Amino acid sequence: IGQRIHYQESVDSTQKIAHRLGFENVPEGTVVIADEQTGGRGRLERAWHSPKSTGVWMSIILRPNIPIPKTPQLTLLAAVAVTQAIEDCTGLEAHIKWPNDILLNGKKVTGILTELQAEPDRVHFVIMGIGMNVNQTKMDFPAELQSIATSLSIEKGSFVNRAEVIRAVFHRLENLYQLYLEKGFLPIKLLWESYAVSIGKVVTARTFSGVIKGRAMGITDDGVLKIEDEDGNVHDIYSADIEI
Ligand code: BTN
Repeated sequence: IGQRIHYQESVDSTQKIAHRLGFENVPEGTVVIADEQTGGRGRLERAWHSPKSTGVWMSIILRPNIPIPKTPQLTLLAAVAVTQAIEDCTGLEAHIKWPNDILLNGKKVTGILTELQAEPDRVHFVIMGIGMNVNQTKMDFPAELQSIATSLSIEKGSFVNRAEVIRAVFHRLENLYQLYLEKGFLPIKLLWESYAVSIGKVVTARTFSGVIKGRAMGITDDGVLKIEDEDGNVHDIYSADIEI
């Protein structure tokens, strides 16, 4: 991962460029990195604020030979890799909020967006998008994000070298992806659960179909969150915003 890098100063979204490259049969592990995104995208059709020279905005092309329903596992894998990489290069202890938010002191420092290009019965390629806030100051965030978002430098209290962050993410991703291809999802799941903040706690999940409150029990092998409500009913959560 990261043997081939397509770097561009300013792009609309690295996801789009990576998607195009995915069809051109570039090798697995090819990465698109930009210094700035003008149309960065997040989960659930949200915008992703990606100002110039302050963060790591990148998309990685993977070609795993796995069935389509297993692709959410790669999002969880990426979350573990980023959590470990943050610790490697800052010494800070990050946590994961299901499904894919990386938090430092309860504030979001990284988001992950995994997009699948499917063929009828198999994965054609996966684009793993990673957006890391690195050197923003508090004032660099739009007002509505200031209380919920943070950057590595805010939490560390000093400037953080983005090249080192990128290197650490590649290194951790490479190791975990090899582990995943050799041993399957179980070791990744155990690591994920060890970094997760929500497991065992009472959470509120806002889904498309309504609000579910209960204790987060854990994740399934497909990355689905299990919540047990007051009445003992267990809900499978596929997509939601979680409040702890
Ligand atoms: C989220 O909603 O938390 C996911 C955010 C993902 C942002 C990254 S930045 C690099 C890549 N390009 C995009 O447009 N989005 C992802």
